[in-house]
Amino acid sequence: MSKTALITGITGQDGAYLSEYLIKKGYTVHGIKRRSSLFNTNRIDHLYQDPHQENRNMILHYGDMTDSMNITRIIAEVQPDEIYNLAAQSHVKVSFDTPEYTANVDGLGTLRVLEAVRLLNLVSKTRIYQASTSELYGLVQEIPQKETTPFYPRSPYAVAKMYAYWITVNYREAYQMFACNGILFNHESPLRGETFVTRKVTRAISRIALGIQNEVYMGNLSGKRDWGHAKDYVKAMYLILQQDMPDDYVIATGVTTTIRDFICKSFDKIGIAVEFTGAGVNETGKIAGIRSEVFVERVGETYLKRIQNRIGETIVKVDPEYFRPTEVELLIGDATKARTKLSWEPRYDLDALIEDMMQSDIKEMKKEAYVSEAGYRILNYFE
Ligand code: NAP
Ligand code: GDD
Repeated sequence: MSKTALITGITGQDGAYLSEYLIKKGYTVHGIKRRSSLFNTNRIDHLYQDPHQENRNMILHYGDMTDSMNITRIIAEVQPDEIYNLAAQSHVKVSFDTPEYTANVDGLGTLRVLEAVRLLNLVSKTRIYQASTSELYGLVQEIPQKETTPFYPRSPYAVAKMYAYWITVNYREAYQMFACNGILFNHESPLRGETFVTRKVTRAISRIALGIQNEVYMGNLSGKRDWGHAKDYVKAMYLILQQDMPDDYVIATGVTTTIRDFICKSFDKIGIAVEFTGAGVNETGKIAGIRSEVFVERVGETYLKRIQNRIGETIVKVDPEYFRPTEVELLIGDATKARTKLSWEPRYDLDALIEDMMQSDIKEMKKEAYVSEAGYRILNYFE
């Protein structure tokens, strides 16, 4: 018998990779998507099946984490073996602008899922994965951070996720639910939302290389993150729910890097050397040199002269608008428990992650460059 999974947040980065992974494993995957005035399923369109098709293994339901009755009805209909609760207002900076909404979706949303499973008498059938986060460690109390490290959340997002973490533990202890927290450190991919730092950087670099954008404005460049690949991290989610006993696990690579170094490493992938000088809001990054053969191979000869003419120019600037009222300066995880108990091993290191993201964004942005150049040529023709 194939298993049935319900994924909240299926249209997000992790939802997309997890759906693909579970479908490959023979699952029937149900997902909750929000109503939107624009299509919001582009990350999972390749998995979509027409509702008129028989024996579908991918089924979408309209829903919202703020709507208890809707969540309860969907769980009642689907009768899932596993629920992966990934839905969240997941942007830390945005949570300072929308703290109440973030608490409702990220904190109470988790309670709604747990309570629905309890009220529907599904406790012995349904296993629950809660998308917890390294943001819980915030002002870190220990280096590296592991399952026993005390939490010190530093944003409305992290505080909401702290409620979600503990309500998951509480339902496990109070009602013997198979409910688990994956405390995942930052994980990225070509599908990462465009306003998270890694994707913002790889997109901006691709656009700068192709001459569509002149510079990029960043926030805190000294922050350090433990970045892994989302493809590796969704496997951990699955493994957490396949164990004999429910438990909580840190998922991380154990390597930490500054935002500044991430930017340099990403530029380096296309042969551009960037040099940073100054400090704080006055810090800037200039083009220090170009390895032409690498640039030509990765970006194309057409764009070489333009970028060569920019050597010495500033292409990275700091805008304090991107600073957070309280920042998480350092995250580095110790995933020993996951490695030993789940036999989880990440395949991607930081270099392979950046390679994947840069290749994808260069390809994507080339389409944009081509369309804008074609438009320019048409305009010239008519002038
Ligand atoms: P993401 O790309 O931002 O996806 C979030 C998903 O939640 C999207 O499908 C979004 O729908 C949905 N959503 C947001 N508000 C909702 C609401 N009110 N009702 C229903 N659905 C809603 O996030 P992600 O990177 O895939 O992360 C998945 C989960 O892991 C999140 O809970 C995040 O907080 C957590 N997490 C992420 C990381 C990381 O580094 N990526 C690390 C630790 C924990 P739309 O597509 O319509 O916006
Ligand atoms: N987004 C963004 N944009 N971040 C910037 C920028 C910028 O222009 N400039 C510097 N940063 C810094 C942030 O201040 C932060 O220190 C770091 O880059 C990472 O920011 P994000 O990529 O937005 O991720 P995050 O670490 O705040 O949160 C992500 O990871 C968490 C796990 O630790 C999100 O995916 C959360 O949902 C997740 O829980």
